Amino acid sequence: MKVAVIGGGIMGSGIAQLAAMAGHAVAIRDVGEAELGRARDAIESSLAKLCEKDRLSEAEADAARESLTFTTALDEAVGAADVVVEAVPELLEVKHQVLAEVVAAAPAGALLGTNTSQLSITSIGAALGDDASRLVGMHFFNPPVLMRLCELVRGLATADDALERAREFATGLGKTVVVCQKDSPGFITSRAYAILRLECLRMLEEGVATAEDIDTAMKLGFNFPMGPLELGDFNGLDTYLHAIESLERAHGDRFRPTVGLRNMVAAGHLGRKTGRGFYDYSEG
Ligand SMILES: NC(=O)c1ccc[n+]([C@@H]2O[C@H](COP(=O)([O-])OP(=O)(O)OC[C@H]3O[C@@H](n4cnc5c(N)ncnc54)[C@H](O)[C@@H]3O)[C@@H](O)[C@H]2O)c1
Repeated sequence: MKVAVIGGGIMGSGIAQLAAMAGHAVAIRDVGEAELGRARDAIESSLAKLCEKDRLSEAEADAARESLTFTTALDEAVGAADVVVEAVPELLEVKHQVLAEVVAAAPAGALLGTNTSQLSITSIGAALGDDASRLVGMHFFNPPVLMRLCELVRGLATADDALERAREFATGLGKTVVVCQKDSPGFITSRAYAILRLECLRMLEEGVATAEDIDTAMKLGFNFPMGPLELGDFNGLDTYLHAIESLERAHGDRFRPTVGLRNMVAAGHLGRKTGRGFYDYSEG
């Protein structure tokens, strides 16, 4: 199949690599050569690591490299695509604009996937008219090459046939698929995990335990690879606050951010990127 990935950032580069490793011809489209260079470097580094760990042979890595093209030209990327996956920033206006351009340039039968983490598929599709029937939420996880889940989300206008094509595509990439049948912000995963993380935050603020002990309890007690607080620091507490606020708007008070989280963001304690969050990174 011919696959186009729009946006070659953290997720787009990983999804493109995954599709290339599954034998598809993949075009990545981003806005500039610098962005495409970063996508190429990320894929190269991931392929090299997979080879080092014997999870991929050199021949398979070469085949994946040969299946990938990098372009700033949207027509070139999507002109003959069977599947287009959008992985541009989590902003509704940007997704509207990008998908409208994709619909104008891609074949009329192309499947449209959006890798949004929590935006409503129905509102993303609202800009597409009848073509919203081809739009499916395809929520891959970071890093897409390693994480086993793809959460599919049905928008109000999503056709059954599109959902089945998305299921086939994601399964062919080696993912286990779950389907969020109702378009509900946060879907299954982000909604459930947000509550867990909020409860960890409340325990920290109530002095029930230290950040280290809360994270250790979650890691060793539930086999999470990272504790919820350290993951918050890793992704950025401003991003976390923004995500929680949007779930609060959708689902009400049980997602209300804590005062402590708001204060940390107001003070610029955003996690690793500012050197301080739940943990102190000033020593590197
Ligand atoms: N990072 C994660 O852990 C994660 C996990 C699951 C889902 N997501 C979702 O995936 C999407 C992408 O997130 P990300 O973390 O990869 O973001 P990112 O910022 O790393 O990448 C976004 C890329 O899109 C490019 N872009 C912007 N406008 C574009 C356009 N008009 N055409 C083509 N490219 C364009 C940017 O240059 C950038 O390279 C978001 O919707 C996000 O919510 C992220």
